[in-house]
Formats: sequence, C-alpha cells, structure tokens
Amino acid sequence: MNMHSSNASTAEEAIAAQEALPPLTNDEATKVAMANTLLTPRFYTTDFDEMDAIDVSPVRKEWDVLIAGMKADPNKGHFKKNEDWDDVDWDGMEPALKAEFIDFLISSCTAEFSGCVLYKEMKRRGSNKDITELFQLMARDEARHAGFINDALREAGIAVNLGFLTQAKKYTYFRPKFIYYATYLSEKIGYARYITIYRHLEENPEYRFHPIFKWFREWCNDEFSHGEAFALLMKTDPSLTTTRVNKLWIKFFLTAVFSTMWIRDHQRPAFHKALGVDPSWYAQEVYRKTSEITKQVFPMTLDIDHPRWLPTLERMQKANVQIAAGRKQGGIGGWLKRMAGSAKAGVGFVSLLTIPVEKNAVPANPRLEPAY
Ligand SMILES: [Fe+2]
Ligand SMILES: [Fe+2]
Repeated sequence: MNMHSSNASTAEEAIAAQEALPPLTNDEATKVAMANTLLTPRFYTTDFDEMDAIDVSPVRKEWDVLIAGMKADPNKGHFKKNEDWDDVDWDGMEPALKAEFIDFLISSCTAEFSGCVLYKEMKRRGSNKDITELFQLMARDEARHAGFINDALREAGIAVNLGFLTQAKKYTYFRPKFIYYATYLSEKIGYARYITIYRHLEENPEYRFHPIFKWFREWCNDEFSHGEAFALLMKTDPSLTTTRVNKLWIKFFLTAVFSTMWIRDHQRPAFHKALGVDPSWYAQEVYRKTSEITKQVFPMTLDIDHPRWLPTLERMQKANVQIAAGRKQGGIGGWLKRMAGSAKAGVGFVSLLTIPVEKNAVPANPRLEPAY
C-alpha cells in the first residue's frame, strides 16, 4: 500500500500521497477553495530572503527545545482514519447542516494548506539551517492536516485539488513582519478554536455529529507549537513588539483576525446548532483564550468586554449579510446594497480599532505549554 499523508515526513510526500488517491474531480470544492475575499483563507508570499536572515541566537535555548519536540514527531500517523472513525451518514444529514459543514471543511482545508505552501516555500528558498528546519517541520504538519480534512471530504464525494490550488490560487504578498503577526495569531487562534470545540464535545458527546472532532486535541497541539515558533521569531527582534507603529499594527491584526472569525462563524448557524454551540459564546471564549496566550509576546490585548465590542461585531455581521444579499441580487440595486454594507462594515471596524487596549507586561521568556 502507498504511504498515507499522516505518515509523511515532509510536506512534499504528504501532498504526493493525497494526489495518488483515486481522482475526484470536484470543481465546485476547488472553486470554493480558490475564492479570494476578505473572509476566505488566502495564500501568502513574502520576502523570503529577509526571513532567511533571522538569527535565532537570542532565543537559542528555547528554540532548540521547541525544534527537538517537533522533530520527535509525536503526531506521526495520527491524522488518519482508524477504528475511532465512525460511519458518517452524509445522505441522511440535514441539507443546511451538510452544506455548512462541507463549507467549513473546505475552508479549513484551504487554511491548513495555505500554511503548508507558505512554510514549504520558505524551506525551499532559505539556506539558514534553523529557519529551513522549522519551516520544513511546520509544512509537514500542515500538509497532514489538510490531507486529513480531504480524507473526510472524500467520503462526501468531494476533494480539494491541492496541487491545482498551489499553482492557480492567487498569492497575497505580506512583508515578513506582517507574516509574523498574522501567522502567529492564526496558529494561536487555531489552537483556541480546536481545543474549545474538543473540550465542549468531551463534555457533550451527543453533539459530536462527525468523527473528525475526535482528532482535534493532537491537532491543536501542532498549531500550538507552530505559534510558539512565531513567538520566538518575534522575540529575536524586540522592535517588532515595542515600537509605537508596530503596536498599532498588532492591534490592527488582532482586530482583523477576531472580527473576521466572528463574521465567518455567524455565517454557519446550522453547523453551530448541530455542535450545540452558540457562536457568540464560542467567539468570546476563543478570544479570551487567544488573548491569554498572546500575552507571551504582544504588549496588549483587546478589551473584549468593552460595551462597544459585541454590539459592533453584531453590526458588522449584519453588514456582511447585506453584502451577501447584494451580491446575490446583482445589478445596480445589488451593487448599491453591497457598497452600503461594505461602508457599514468599514465603520464598524474603525469603531473596534478605537476601543482602548489593555496593556500587558511581556515576560522575558515567552515559552508556554498548551493549558486548555
Ligand atoms: Fe494546521
Ligand atoms: Fe499550524
């Protein structure tokens, strides 16, 4: 039997293992994965030479411990269906839930794979041993994650064409410091999202409508380590988290990542109902955990208990519904609706940015262990 993506030791092997599976041409799924809007996962490219020049000596001790843990590869072979994988009744699934769940899987697969292509490219372009080693390990993990989600999708007769996506999806350029902020946050919020669902379903197993959630604990530990790596990378250059301008950028990224999550999740009411999760509760819970973790390196957290926080997110979400309605309607009327919605969402975003932050004294040693 051919190798499975869960056992691959490099991203390239994992992708090849996925591509060797019987072809499933699902243009619809790949089209969803190809979409580039403010709310869909993007692919990134950056100044790889600048990243290759990072010197990790200021954090050498913590760095070596982290890399040794990743090299030991505790999750090798984990991302594969086994006897815990219950039968999924795709045909019997309520249509609204099925549509939202498939959309969730496709966008998660794209997000995982987005990490994979960025990390793989850094490894390919770099010559700094510390950096290429880290990025190779992270690319390996993300390729396994994406492959596993694709395995779940295949049961519904769908697969995201990963090779095609690498070639054809548009890449967005971010300078390295924005990659650090955005990727660090997406790894840590990814951890918080996966572990919150995992713990909720541990207590309420009757809501576990699909077996993939059973894999979330080990999964989120991978994301946690990836986040740790970016925390250490940021530690190598204190100006990244101390200058006035960079603090503003951090606040911007925190606000963008949190509000995007709110809007995206509120687009999937049937999915959250099936999980027995109120998306507003879930969001606040995830923000709280993420904020606690990001204190390891960010000099501030957002005030998510501020009286303007929740009402503004709700307004932005309504504006997003209006944008979607306008897009569906088309014509001049639809365009006007879209523009009005975008303006409202923009005003909401600026309003969130004006909420004062809570200052945080960053510890000298950033290293954390997953604690939730
Ligand atoms: Fe991942
Ligand atoms: Fe990750």
